[in-house]
Formats: sequence, structure tokens, C-alpha cells
Amino acid sequence: MTAPHTLTLRRPDDWHLHLRDGEMLRAVLPASAARFGRAIVMPNLRPPVTGVAEALAYRERIVAALPSGSRFRPLMTCYATDAADPDEIERGWSDGVFAAVKLYPAHATTNSDHGVSDFSRIVPLLERMQSLGMPLLVHGEVTDPAVDMFDREAVFIERVLSPLLAALPRLRLVFEHVTTAQAVAFVRAHAAGGRVGATITAHHLLINRNAMFAGGLRPHAYCLPVAKRERHRKALVEAATSGEAAFFLGTDSAPHPVAAKESACGCAGIFTAPAGLELYAEVFEQAGALDRLEAFASLNGPRFYRLPPNDDTITLVRRPWTMPAEIAGVVPFRAGEEIAWTLTETPPLAETPPLAETP
Ligand code: DOR
Ligand code: ZN
Repeated sequence: MTAPHTLTLRRPDDWHLHLRDGEMLRAVLPASAARFGRAIVMPNLRPPVTGVAEALAYRERIVAALPSGSRFRPLMTCYATDAADPDEIERGWSDGVFAAVKLYPAHATTNSDHGVSDFSRIVPLLERMQSLGMPLLVHGEVTDPAVDMFDREAVFIERVLSPLLAALPRLRLVFEHVTTAQAVAFVRAHAAGGRVGATITAHHLLINRNAMFAGGLRPHAYCLPVAKRERHRKALVEAATSGEAAFFLGTDSAPHPVAAKESACGCAGIFTAPAGLELYAEVFEQAGALDRLEAFASLNGPRFYRLPPNDDTITLVRRPWTMPAEIAGVVPFRAGEEIAWTLTETPPLAETPPLAETP
């Protein structure tokens, strides 16, 4: 059977996205808004989004930055700190401002300094979320410097996630940007009843850890959690293309100005938004599973979040284009390389100059 040349899907959503703020927000938002109906917006701004008022103000800035006529809807999250107030978070949930709480272990990744230093401190919050049915979105890596960088996700499952789910048997949780076969197995073991879900990024489906060292040090292939061995990438592709309801699309598109990446201490983050759906189409095509892309991209996420799927569609055509070398001072994933699929309604982003200010 020959692969289809065009592919129409119910409009997908991005269940894990970094939009930043200010000029960077205005530069990166159109790419996501052209593809996705909604996105779970990460709260790791400086300072982080920890209260209802901050989330409302941030949501307004995002909506104000949307291209005219866009129907894109940002879904806001609350950044959990040791001092998180369960009443404030419940208020944001009941008022429809917070879709979820994001949990960064302190110092695990970019802008996570205010994250949770000790999970026992937020037990009252987690108990409240359990009773509300409010999802907890987890960056699943231990920060213990004695643990090898490539083992941090697997060790997090043993040390933190398993005990957490045992202590809070009804807490609903998304294991964000899973990168290992162990995480895939863990999610499957806890997926019954829509209790645990997982986002999978396009870059973790496309690269393994060799990409960071291909002919030299490659900062634009560095993100957290870092890409792992090939066998883990294969486990992720198998999970994403399985059609299983627990696995859904979350790009973790995370733009950083080029100087912040190409540095003696470069930031973690890969900017995939300019081909945020097309890259997944490539993975699903290679796996012979294009017929399952809609479940992963457009149906499983809304089901987990107890929201209706989008009511419109998006069409991709198998026509290659070249990703620009730089977009608004950010080097995108696959810069200067070919992307196999094109959106029919939206032309690919052109190369644009760097921003004047970087928030
Ligand atoms: O690579 C990453 N970049 N991982 C994260 O968890 C955060 C993100 C960012 O905000 O840049
Ligand atoms: Zn992220």
C-alpha cells in the first residue's frame, strides 16, 4: 500500500508548551497557534506563575499576542513551590483558570529554582488535587548529583513516582516528556481508568543521545530530560504509535536565544514549534502508523483532560520544505534541513532576524 499524500485530522492540541513572554512570546506563538487548537502552557517564567492573578495576566498577554482570527486557546498551569497554597490552587481550578499544576523538582531544569525541594511539603496540595481530580504534571527527574544524567528519569520512578502514586491512589498525573522504556512501562502499568497519562515530544521520537555529540558538541539537541539510547527512542515510538489512550502529543517546544544555547553553559530546550505537527507526521509515517496520528495528537489528550476534542480539522500534505536556519534569534530543530510534511493552510515560517530584547 502506498502512503497517503494528504492527511486530514481533527485539529490537534499541544499538551506541553513553553511560550515564554514579551517579544519572544510574540515571535513563537504564531507557529503553535497555526497548528494546535489548545496548548497546556508551562508556567516556568521568571518569576514563575504561582497564583491565579499571575496566570490570568499571562493568559491575557498570550491572547493579545495571537494572530487576528486565531481560535487558539491557552490552558494555564500553576507552578508548584514548597509554599504552594492549596486554597489558591483550588480557586484557580474552580474558576477555570488553572487546568493543572506543574511540578518541577527544584533545580531539575530551566527556571526550576523555585520548584519543589521536598515532596513531603506539598502533600496537603496533592491531597487537595486528588479530591478535585486536578491533574499534576510532573517533570520526572531526580536532581541527586550522584545519579547519572541518563538514569535520572528511571531513578525518579523508583524513588518518587511509585511511592507518590501508592500514597495518593486517586491522584491524576501526567508524566511529562517521557524519554525511557521504564517510563513507558510505568505509564502503562498505571493507565487504567485514565489515572496516569504521558506526553511524548517529537524530538525524543526522532533523536537519540548520539545527536548531542554528532561530530562535535550540539547544543541545539540538548534538552531536559536528555535524549537517551536508541532502544529508549524505539520504546517511545512504539508507545506513541500504539494508539493507547495514555500517550499524547506534547511538544515541549522550548525556545532559547541562540547565545543562551551556544554557550559554555548552554540552556536546555529544543524549539520544535515551527514544525510542531509535521515532525510527528514523519515519525508516524516511518512507523507505518499514520492512521494512529489522530488518536495521539487530537483525541487522547482531550480525553485525559476531560475536554471535548477540537471541532475543526487540519490538513497536512506530503510536500518537503526547508526549516529556516534561525527564527527570531532562535535556532529551530532541524534548522536548514528538510521537513517532509507541510500544512496546507499555513506557509512554513520564514527566516526572521533576532529579537531586540530577550525576556
Ligand atoms: O529542555 C527543557 N527546556 N526542559 C525543560 O524541562 C524546560 C525547558 C525550558 O523551559 O527551556
Ligand atoms: Zn517543558
